Amino acid sequence: MKQVNIALLGMGRIGKIHFKNIQQNFPGIKILAVADPLYNESQKEMYSNIFFSENVDEVIALPEVDALLICTPTSSHADLIEKGIKKGKHIFCEKPMDLSLERTAALSLMAENAGIKLMLGFNRRFDPDFMQAYKSVRAGAIGDVQIVKITSRDPGLPPIDYIKNSGGLFMDMAIHDFDMARYIMNKEVVEVFAKGLNVVDKAVGQAGDIDTALTTLIFEDGSYAVIDNSRKAAYGYDQRLEIFGSGGMIKVENNLLSQNILYDEKGIHYALPMDFFMDRYARSYLNEMELFIDALLNDKEMPVGGSDALKATQIAYAAKSSMETGRPVKLSEVEMKSK
Ligand SMILES: NC(=O)c1ccc[n+]([C@@H]2O[C@H](COP(=O)([O-])OP(=O)(O)OC[C@H]3O[C@@H](n4cnc5c(N)ncnc54)[C@H](O)[C@@H]3O)[C@@H](O)[C@H]2O)c1
Repeated sequence: MKQVNIALLGMGRIGKIHFKNIQQNFPGIKILAVADPLYNESQKEMYSNIFFSENVDEVIALPEVDALLICTPTSSHADLIEKGIKKGKHIFCEKPMDLSLERTAALSLMAENAGIKLMLGFNRRFDPDFMQAYKSVRAGAIGDVQIVKITSRDPGLPPIDYIKNSGGLFMDMAIHDFDMARYIMNKEVVEVFAKGLNVVDKAVGQAGDIDTALTTLIFEDGSYAVIDNSRKAAYGYDQRLEIFGSGGMIKVENNLLSQNILYDEKGIHYALPMDFFMDRYARSYLNEMELFIDALLNDKEMPVGGSDALKATQIAYAAKSSMETGRPVKLSEVEMKSK
């Protein structure tokens, strides 16, 4: 492919990040069209060379469009992926692909059979610090990895309507961490044990979800990952990683708003962590888009594909099932439901 013409579906929080990244960093790549039922007139005026439409089907059908960026709410991903595959469009889709294991597996296969390149937005893999940690582990810097610890806490709740349509904390939020754990370990999970609480806001419980969770993953070689999630940390967006091995440990601490540290009689004062995902993971969104475009231009494999989407979704499903039943859930139990 010599040129990539892109259509962006869904111009919300994450859609705007990808839109801006492509416009500002990939001069040869064209965003031909944007579909969003809530698109606003000022955007249309600002980008007169882009076709804005409220009708997503009209945009997917445009013959000049090579690839879709699906940034719409989770519940619409699967239908849009299917429509895109049928029209021969390559696809970048935000996480999760779908809440149903069967549909995630089926779409992944459908894309493969149709020769469609499909990438999932597990952006954290492309954060420079996490990539460095991955490389160090692969190079044997800390020997055999025994425990991975991931802390992933949001600065505050998303709107309750978002929560209602998100698939719940495990599918919506912890799924990033499940993917990170697989990525860092380079191994598959065989068993999941999870607990969840509703302590941040009763409205979350009334919407049928939890806001706080602890998940243990057991990998095929017996090693562990421990993941803690909260929808609200009083001090901001808390994103830390620790990898413990037979020969040492790797830590990735929070990216802070400032590197200034104040020492005084009361203590040593650091700045707060960067506000939220838009800032903390800015580089990772850019890196993932670069890889998506590179794979299209140079006919390479996508770095995170349908099988990764399925694995992370299976882990999320097992975590929810473990929380509901109070027992550890084997991935093999869940894999059967994906068929
Ligand atoms: N990778 C990440 O770090 C990350 C961060 C946030 C959200 N997400 C994922 O991105 C997706 C969107 O989340 P968000 O926070 O941007 O949501 P959002 O509500 O801010 O934006 C969604 C946008 O899609 C539009 N939309 C709804 N239905 C549509 C349709 N059928 N066709 C076209 N547009 C449609 C809405 O009008 C809205 O503007 C979710 O699946 C979420 O899980 C990923």
